[in-house]
Amino acid sequence: MISVKKENKELLFTLSTYESSYQMKADRYGVLLHLFYGERLNEGDDLSRLIFRTDMGFSGNPACAGTDRAYSLDTLPQEVSGFGAGDFRDSMVELLHEDGSRAAEFYFDSYEIMDGSYKVDGMPALYDTSATKGETLVITMREAASDVELKLCYGVYEKENVITRAAKLINKGKKRVSVQKLLSMNLDMMFFDADMIYFTGRHAFEREPERVPVRHAKTEIKSVRGMSSHQYNPAFILCEKKADEDSGKCYGFCLAYSGNFAASAQRDQKNQTRVQMGINPDGFCYLLGKDEELMTPQVIMSFSKDGLTKLSQQYHDIIRENMCRGKYKHEKRPVLINNWEATYFDFDGQKLLNIAEQAAELGIEMLVLDDGWFGKRDDDNSGLGDWFVNEKKLGGNLQDIGGRINDMGMKFGLWFEPEMISEDSGLYRAHPDWALAIPDREPNRARNQLALDMSRTDVRDYLFERMSAILSSAPIAYVKWDLNRSICDMYSHASKPEHSGELYHKYVLGVYDLLERLLARFPELMLEGCSGGGGRFDAGMLYYSPQIWCSDNTDAINRLTIQYGTSFFYPISSVGSHVSACPNHQTGRSVPLKTRADVAMSGSFGYELDLGKLTDEEKLQVKEQIAQFHDLYELTHEGDYYRLAAPKEGVMAWAFAAKDKRRAFLTLVRLEAEGNPLPVHVFMKGLDKDKSYRCMLKNDTSVINSGAAFMSGGITIPWTMGQYESVVMVFEEVNHGSFA
Ligand code: GLA
Repeated sequence: MISVKKENKELLFTLSTYESSYQMKADRYGVLLHLFYGERLNEGDDLSRLIFRTDMGFSGNPACAGTDRAYSLDTLPQEVSGFGAGDFRDSMVELLHEDGSRAAEFYFDSYEIMDGSYKVDGMPALYDTSATKGETLVITMREAASDVELKLCYGVYEKENVITRAAKLINKGKKRVSVQKLLSMNLDMMFFDADMIYFTGRHAFEREPERVPVRHAKTEIKSVRGMSSHQYNPAFILCEKKADEDSGKCYGFCLAYSGNFAASAQRDQKNQTRVQMGINPDGFCYLLGKDEELMTPQVIMSFSKDGLTKLSQQYHDIIRENMCRGKYKHEKRPVLINNWEATYFDFDGQKLLNIAEQAAELGIEMLVLDDGWFGKRDDDNSGLGDWFVNEKKLGGNLQDIGGRINDMGMKFGLWFEPEMISEDSGLYRAHPDWALAIPDREPNRARNQLALDMSRTDVRDYLFERMSAILSSAPIAYVKWDLNRSICDMYSHASKPEHSGELYHKYVLGVYDLLERLLARFPELMLEGCSGGGGRFDAGMLYYSPQIWCSDNTDAINRLTIQYGTSFFYPISSVGSHVSACPNHQTGRSVPLKTRADVAMSGSFGYELDLGKLTDEEKLQVKEQIAQFHDLYELTHEGDYYRLAAPKEGVMAWAFAAKDKRRAFLTLVRLEAEGNPLPVHVFMKGLDKDKSYRCMLKNDTSVINSGAAFMSGGITIPWTMGQYESVVMVFEEVNHGSFA
């Protein structure tokens, strides 16, 4: 609900969802103050009374305030902060004007309320469905001196407890303006002694949560890698110090963007917390001529008064329903076998068909042919860009191979790394200027490859033509879209030097454009995002690919931490997760096959190993695992997710419950080994306390108890669990009445 109350010269804006409110005021001077974000307010509540004003030394006063020395942009909580005009904290907007001055001072101009979600130009954004329709408030702010407009967009999703923000600059003036910084949001929270939880990592170990207090020194996460990155995920949480999974106020901020981003929280001199998120200003500079505009990506914000689990569930629901698109948004995803860890580059057509044959026998539903099927590509030093099938290596074309795989009752999928180019490739020899490299400098090479200039339409046209030709030449149901290096050496042969600061952003817009074109041409296609695993695991990519390869690390025990971190924002259905061989190729660790599957099936499930090396007994297990995955699919892909124990607690456990709470299951993995072992105990969550459930234990024995008993008494595992052993327990409602 969006309400606007006018009093004298002031406008009070209140955005309310089912359990949260967000309040702002355009005050008598036209400054847009942030008043409140938190638990839902009642009608008529006006929290501008919270603002405490004094004449603070070294915090000057804007001209509009006349002689009021207690009115300072440096101390007021604001929705927009401009650089160079008296707010000395970090700014949301920085403009460089033609006369060399740098000032951005935006005052309220007008507002508009619209039915439905707003769109973000050329970028992903939450969209409406028949079940969920957003409401939009656009507040237009103006810089009088330059005649630059700033439109602040707010989306309100009532039952989802979600509010979004984005901003758009429009240069209505006659002169050019250089935008040095334009974030998606600035939020000044007046009284909030918060912790910040962000997700950090590295290639093959992504999204490990870190929780730190918000202090006066800024805590910032960011990427300049041209992608959201393995190192920091573009999402973070602010929460009360006492907040845990089940209690405490928590706020989430999640950027629907796949490129350079920055997000920070910092206390100011009045102990207010300034929160910011958007495109990273490092290396960014965007020229706007008359009537040109620039829009920011969208921040998805959500509030929970009841802890982190609820916050995560709100994100899972909205991303799954209103960000992910396409046929496979709800349609069951096939269980796949990927040949990468089974063969790496060493395969031919026959080897692939053998894998497919064995996979089909086990109930696997799709074979994904990974890297190495095109150009000259027998290792990772050459061939990228040459998207022509290597029929010699395959001993046939993709039509033959795909057809034979289809005949086995399986689908066929294919790997691409569209944004990249090897110097040893036909494409590079024909178009060296298509690669990102600065003239007269040696480019940085990573995995011995360069990135393509995705801002160029000719590059995108080539990729679209090549990918379309391949996808229409064979029965290809799935594409794994990879990106295997951080991007630098930003220079485009196709644009003028003064536009060089736009390139990182235009690269991302180019990627989105190509993805959009491809999906429009092949609407049935299932895309799995990937960037050396989870280097581009963000809400933006989930608009195109409902699942993303979560990490190149397939060690089930490392995956516990990686998938745990991923679960704070991203739906479990989006987590691409495979059973691989032991000893594990990344860590050398051996983990029981059951545990590997129990961990992987809390995600979009598959296998990535040489099936020929499995014993008969293991093959039987794989068949059972696939049956179990299907049985639990509704819960993992459409249910609510609960973190029961964090990976560092000796035991890692999580659960899923159906929305109607008639069915649930928990998975538990023991991490430690000890002599004279102590009992393994866990509290279940997500059941209806008044319902009665049968919990299936080992060997078909079961116990019936109320939801209340399983949740507050918990469950003791009635046998000794060894290190890395896992258990899955299913809870079925026994009758539909109350337990009593
Ligand atoms: C990346 C991916 C892997 C695999 C290789 C192929 O590292 O994350 O799964 O596809 O590329 O080169």
